[in-house]
Amino acid sequence: MAADNLIDGRAIADQIHTDTAQRVASLKSCGVQPGLMFVRVGEDPASKVYVGMKERTSARLGIHSETLVLDAETTQSHLLGLLRELNADRRFHGILVQAPLPKHISEQIVYSTVSPDKDIDGFHPVNVGKLMLGAKDGFRPCTPAGVHELLIRSEVTTTGAEVVILGRGNIVGKPMAAILCQKDQHADATVTICHSRSKQTAEHCRQADIIVAAMGVAEFLKADMVKPGAVVIDVGVNRVADSSAKNGYRLVGDVDFANVQPIAGKITPNPGGVGPMTIAILMQNTVTAAERAAR
Ligand code: GUN
Repeated sequence: MAADNLIDGRAIADQIHTDTAQRVASLKSCGVQPGLMFVRVGEDPASKVYVGMKERTSARLGIHSETLVLDAETTQSHLLGLLRELNADRRFHGILVQAPLPKHISEQIVYSTVSPDKDIDGFHPVNVGKLMLGAKDGFRPCTPAGVHELLIRSEVTTTGAEVVILGRGNIVGKPMAAILCQKDQHADATVTICHSRSKQTAEHCRQADIIVAAMGVAEFLKADMVKPGAVVIDVGVNRVADSSAKNGYRLVGDVDFANVQPIAGKITPNPGGVGPMTIAILMQNTVTAAERAAR
């Protein structure tokens, strides 16, 4: 079938980048250089790839970025001390501590230590609270905010829509639900979250007008779980063994794309769907932080 139902995340991310680059240029014309600090702890291979992509996009848009690489044995108190110094460092408007962190470090304590004003990940409790309250002056987590923007720019109606979110993580599932259930022109959805202990996941999915798959199970969402015409958003990035691949694995999403794509109304490819949007929102949040600091 012709792939005319694809949601082109790269093209939509590029539209956002164009706007972000203009905002960077006007900050620079006022003498403000937007700055973003990445903090990576340990050698998680996926984190290295993600931070590398974010560094390159920062450079492309004129955002100054640096990456602090700490070894996997770094203590939590050392990391918290560094974050407090970065909170006070006026060169950096955004601070991103890449997850996952080593087991001996509490992500919750780390994300509570980043200043809410520099929390361009939207993980600080103040920003999580603002999202729940529907306040517009916080930072929204990049991946669910990116999915929201994909839906808006693809003209998907969320008002009154039945939305099923697969996954209840703090990075995607929970904030995605909070965004889509707000009383707002581009939200107003009826949201159901399904997770590993849900009993009727397939039945819930079959009722859905929009499905956001973010539970981290390779090709979990099958064609018989999708109502014809439904909008399907695939957030998953899973490694599956593949002896024919050079590195011994390939990446697949949470959606059985080959079989779901022909019946979906609209669907994100993977890669090229949600991933570029996460980075686009990160850059947008960083520039917003810089604009606020410059006021
Ligand atoms: N790991 C996976 N997604 C994210 C994200 O959006 N932000 C951070 N800091 N780490 C992540």
